[in-house]
Amino acid sequence: MCFPNEYFMMNYFPNDKKNCTKHNERFRKLHKKLIILQTKQFHHIYLNNFIHIIGLVQMDSPNTTGELMNEPNMRHKIILFFALAAMLASCSGGKVKYRIGVSQCSDDIWRDKQNAELRMGAYFHDNVELKFAAAYDSDERQVQQIDSLVGSGIDLLIVAPNQVSTISPAIDRAYDKGIPVIVFERKTNSQKYTAFISADNYEMGRVMGEYVISRLHGQGQVLEIMGLKGSSPAIERHNGFMDALKKATGVSVMESLQGDWTEPTAYETTRKWLSANKDAHVDLVFGMNDRTAMGARKAFLENGGYTPLFCGIDGLPGENGGIQLVRDSLLDASYIYPTHGDQLIDLAVNILEGKPYEKETMMMSALVTRDNAKVLLMQSEELMRQGKRLDLLHEKADNYLHELDTQRVINWLALGIIALLMVVFVLVYLYQMRKIALQRERVVNTLWNLKPEEVPVTAENPETAESVETSKTSKDSPVIEEDEPAAVSLFFSRFKEVVEARLEDSDVSVEDLAADMGLSRVQLYRKVKAVAGSSPVELLRTARLNRAYQLLLTTDKSVSEIAYAVGFTSPSYFTKCFKEEYGQVPGEIRK
Ligand code: FRU
Repeated sequence: MCFPNEYFMMNYFPNDKKNCTKHNERFRKLHKKLIILQTKQFHHIYLNNFIHIIGLVQMDSPNTTGELMNEPNMRHKIILFFALAAMLASCSGGKVKYRIGVSQCSDDIWRDKQNAELRMGAYFHDNVELKFAAAYDSDERQVQQIDSLVGSGIDLLIVAPNQVSTISPAIDRAYDKGIPVIVFERKTNSQKYTAFISADNYEMGRVMGEYVISRLHGQGQVLEIMGLKGSSPAIERHNGFMDALKKATGVSVMESLQGDWTEPTAYETTRKWLSANKDAHVDLVFGMNDRTAMGARKAFLENGGYTPLFCGIDGLPGENGGIQLVRDSLLDASYIYPTHGDQLIDLAVNILEGKPYEKETMMMSALVTRDNAKVLLMQSEELMRQGKRLDLLHEKADNYLHELDTQRVINWLALGIIALLMVVFVLVYLYQMRKIALQRERVVNTLWNLKPEEVPVTAENPETAESVETSKTSKDSPVIEEDEPAAVSLFFSRFKEVVEARLEDSDVSVEDLAADMGLSRVQLYRKVKAVAGSSPVELLRTARLNRAYQLLLTTDKSVSEIAYAVGFTSPSYFTKCFKEEYGQVPGEIRK
């Protein structure tokens, strides 16, 4: 795939093929990243819906007739809950971040451009965090800033030292702490750095010197406005420039004025020089950067009279950048001083990740003259347009990330709420279970009235039997409380009568009991089981044993007689069942 302007750039700027390919590569990477982000977002939206669906499923509440909660459904929900928790947990894996400190000696349009590129470069390594500090041309401030960056726990330091010697101790301190240091664009006098990256400042000065010779046709007077004293680009550009001029005896440097890279200082210095050298004639001013050259130009214009040629260095793209100044003939020439912040980040990440890297990197650069300024400007505008598109994509990706974070928080909140609901759900479930168990107990105890010591339901004890009948309709009876349907109460009274009538019948079957009740065997089983939690056969046996218990207490009959009287065919089996029910053998009850 080729981006629309690739053809244009490759054909019009064959030298910049590499840059163009790099740009396209970045677009591709960013595009890929956006797709990943969208997929992640989709994943979260999917989870949100999932949570929503779970939320919509009503919790089943148990009913009072004993038809309990839909247990498979409950199990299903618990499984869903844990599946959801696992999925969410898997979504939130954080990455290790590399914290890179960037110590800029100054703050100007050249640095702004570079910082923007550093940020953009960092964006392509999503495990990188940048911390910027600008020293505004102050050695003292830069030393403090480096120390505090190091103190803040950065993993790597990128530094453009204000001057060669003054910043070195702070850089050495960082390096000695084991922090990799990339020195860029300006040098130090120490060997304690991991990598150095810059354009060749000596070469820049030399090429500019050669240009000046040819521009002046080997004859003329030059005024040089230097960069900050003690900064390596100022020293090297001067050396290169002077070395080139040595070759042309007709071109001489009238004076090298001390500047500090800023326009106001250049203006002031030039103004003073002009008023002190009223008769001097300058053919060309070489400002060591474009801003310096423009400061000197301002002083010459104010001075009135003639205007020499002005050459600078930096050749920035964009509004009022060096390239435009050359195209508009405000400057005669400039030299592109590459910023390449993205390249710096790539180098930093390679160092941090233990990948191979170049210790010394010299960046390519080029002279800007009236001949190529127009084309270079078009190219740079195109690159800037692409940069803006990258910015837009970046912004878009940031928004995605932001939304993703918000969704993650919402998901966790939802998960918390679901967890809470599950707890409430389980508590309600347990409560209902307990309630039903109590109801069953009450039904059995009150309606069925099987507790032997409480109510002897025998023909011999009609009063108590009557009292039980009364209890069936009594206001105090739990079985006829609002939540216990009257039908259940009636059903159970009727069932009790049927069972009692058949107690002595050892051959009685569930079918017989069901027939007595006017129900099918299955119907009887279901109803009894639902209300009492026991089967009809179990209740029948319990009733037999209870009657036996009462007979043991209230009659002189032998254990065998009682066994037969309550429908057991084998006294020994009766004794076994009795022991199971009451923990004592029948004989012990009488003692
Ligand atoms: C930016 C700058 C550039 C100059 C460079 C020298 O801060 O002043 O204009 O070319 O630094 O280091």
